[in-house]
Amino acid sequence: MVVTGASSGIGAATVRRFAELGWQTVAVARREERLRKLAEETGCLPVVCDVTDEQQVAAMAETVRQTGGATGLVNNAGGAIGLDLVEEASNDEWRQMFEVNVIGLRSVTAALLPVLREGAGRVGCASILNLTSTAGLGAYARGGGYNAAKFAAHAVTGALRLELAGEPIRVMELAPGLVQTEEFALNRMRGNADAAAGLRLYEDVQPLTAEDVAEVLVGAFERPPHVNQDLIVLRPVAQSSNFHVHKGPLETR
Ligand SMILES: NC(=O)c1ccc[n+]([C@@H]2O[C@H](COP(=O)([O-])OP(=O)(O)OC[C@H]3O[C@@H](n4cnc5c(N)ncnc54)[C@H](OP(=O)(O)O)[C@@H]3O)[C@@H](O)[C@H]2O)c1
Repeated sequence: MVVTGASSGIGAATVRRFAELGWQTVAVARREERLRKLAEETGCLPVVCDVTDEQQVAAMAETVRQTGGATGLVNNAGGAIGLDLVEEASNDEWRQMFEVNVIGLRSVTAALLPVLREGAGRVGCASILNLTSTAGLGAYARGGGYNAAKFAAHAVTGALRLELAGEPIRVMELAPGLVQTEEFALNRMRGNADAAAGLRLYEDVQPLTAEDVAEVLVGAFERPPHVNQDLIVLRPVAQSSNFHVHKGPLETR
């Protein structure tokens, strides 16, 4: 199992959950020290790789092939930069979001498909799951760049499923809503911790945790091989849409 974006948040929780269930995992991200600690904790194979660098992606895929192959891929590396109006956003930041959330997903998928086919040949089935977002299913003001990138990742997932029809390869998508992870909001606010705290995203609400997402994600891989969960939308109960987050206790009426 290959998990990208494994050095924090949902990706790291996913590696931990796979390890609990006995899966051998390859953990991919740019920060080596974090991957090394995760490897000590879970026994995963750490592979440093920037998914936006095609040479590094090719080398990562070769490492996976040489170390026993894989039957699964989780394209989780990604994130948002900024909360800007379309009119005022930075093209460079939009390109960065597209590079990691879309082009990186495509590069990793393309590089690993031959390895996944070999794996499917051995065990009968391989699986790909793309971590998109509810931001890829519905637009919101000041989300334009991230919306565009995740809508694109959603579209790529659908195209890939059609292209692989007839092969024993599942193509799945998990679109979470509000998830409290240590770095997502921080990265969105360009590393400014005060600005991230100022968003008050997680105040007076019980958001999803990375572990909540990982449990559902790994569950999709644990289904029998003929079962393809095309699109899983996962939100906290308090978030009834991208625009409705109930703050305060949940009470019956
Ligand atoms: N948190 C939420 O509310 C939420 C909701 C819906 C969807 N999502 C999506 O879920 C995924 C994980 O989010 P998260 O909350 O766990 O975010 P996070 O804690 O910021 O983790 C992002 C991960 O992606 C990796 N990454 C970023 N750029 C990369 C690159 N160029 N090459 C390789 N790895 C890269 C990071 O590792 P390095 O920096 O070490 O490379 C990190 O491990 C993302 O795709 C995000 O868009 C998050």
